[in-house]
Amino acid sequence: MLTRVDHIGIACTDLNQAIQFHRNAYGFEVCYREINDEQGVDEAMLRINGTDDGHATYLQLLSPTRPNSPVGKFLASRGEGVHHIAFGTPDVDAAAAAFLDRGMRVLFTPPRPAAMGSRATFLHPSECGGVLVELVTHT
Ligand code: CO
Repeated sequence: MLTRVDHIGIACTDLNQAIQFHRNAYGFEVCYREINDEQGVDEAMLRINGTDDGHATYLQLLSPTRPNSPVGKFLASRGEGVHHIAFGTPDVDAAAAAFLDRGMRVLFTPPRPAAMGSRATFLHPSECGGVLVELVTHT
């Protein structure tokens, strides 16, 4: 059902500085940028490698556009660092339904449009060992 790591989401206060760090330290380049007004986040996807299902693994750098956004609140309470991990699945609707059947909380039903034309939802960290887990399908 979950076939790979799609991306690791990292919260940062200064997106351009974080992009520069990841380029200089690891050689990762930005392949996509987006401002998501609804979620209050300015984000960049950095491609790491292709995966054997024809997709890829990324780092997702997340910087808040307002302090009361989810990432803004995360930064205020936890500081910079890993925000979530995203597993790739061929069918996010089926994956979300399977977790709901197990009695787990799924944050967005149906899944919402996400970065790079994907659709995604989240599992609550309190039921996932303290980790915010994203489920994502690329279309
Ligand atoms: Co994500």
